[in-house]
Amino acid sequence: MMQEEDSMKSFLDLASTRRSIRKFEEIDVPESDIEYFIHAAVSAPSGCNSQCWKFIAIKDRNIIKQIELTVIKKIESILEIKGDELSQDYISSKRKMVSFFANAPVVIAVFMTKADFYDSIFISALKGHGYDDEGIMNIFANYDILSIGAAIQNMLLAIHEKGYGACWMNEPAIAGKEINEILGVPLEQKFISIIPVGVPAYTPKNKRMKKIDEVFRIL
Ligand SMILES: Cc1cc2nc3c(=O)[nH]c(=O)nc-3n(C[C@H](O)[C@H](O)[C@H](O)COP(=O)(O)O)c2cc1C
Repeated sequence: MMQEEDSMKSFLDLASTRRSIRKFEEIDVPESDIEYFIHAAVSAPSGCNSQCWKFIAIKDRNIIKQIELTVIKKIESILEIKGDELSQDYISSKRKMVSFFANAPVVIAVFMTKADFYDSIFISALKGHGYDDEGIMNIFANYDILSIGAAIQNMLLAIHEKGYGACWMNEPAIAGKEINEILGVPLEQKFISIIPVGVPAYTPKNKRMKKIDEVFRIL
């Protein structure tokens, strides 16, 4: 029992000290560490055990640059509709916020593949009620995306455990299709997130936390 309590305490410590890191030292992340992060990711639970994920770790600076420029171009083209309304400060800070991943020594791209359904009888009954695959996934709280979230969180904790920092980034998904193209990934595999990983170049400030009783109760 005592041992269990100890290991729970150290896990809570790991989980509660993990923070998003957006600036990295120019220090390499060895492949053995990257493989460790991926092992943690693929150990996550997934709806119907679909393991509906694919990961690509990118160290090639040219490919990272290409993704960076593509994301920036996409963001700029969307903002064009705002004309002169936007300040240069806003535009340049937006540019930075969507592309800081490019300064990390390694960037992990996460894709979602098609998830399975366990119970084909129930699924065909739902289809009889007019639901398509997307509608059914919606009923079940999009467990494909939830599964990806579980995998990414496992990965973030493994990264933190090894003394690295990372940031789970979804904003670059604005250029998801273009990222698929750059990486040669078929469009059936949906780009979800990009995660820059490296040695943190700063210590993050404390973040505001909701009080436990705002988000939790026991009945
Ligand atoms: C699904 C998801 C998407 C996120 N996307 C971005 C992003 O595009 N850019 C970014 O800078 N941070 C992103 N974050 C990081 C959050 O801003 C961060 O987790 C939150 O502010 C809490 O800070 P912490 O991670 O240090 O605890 C994302 C986090 C999650 C869970």
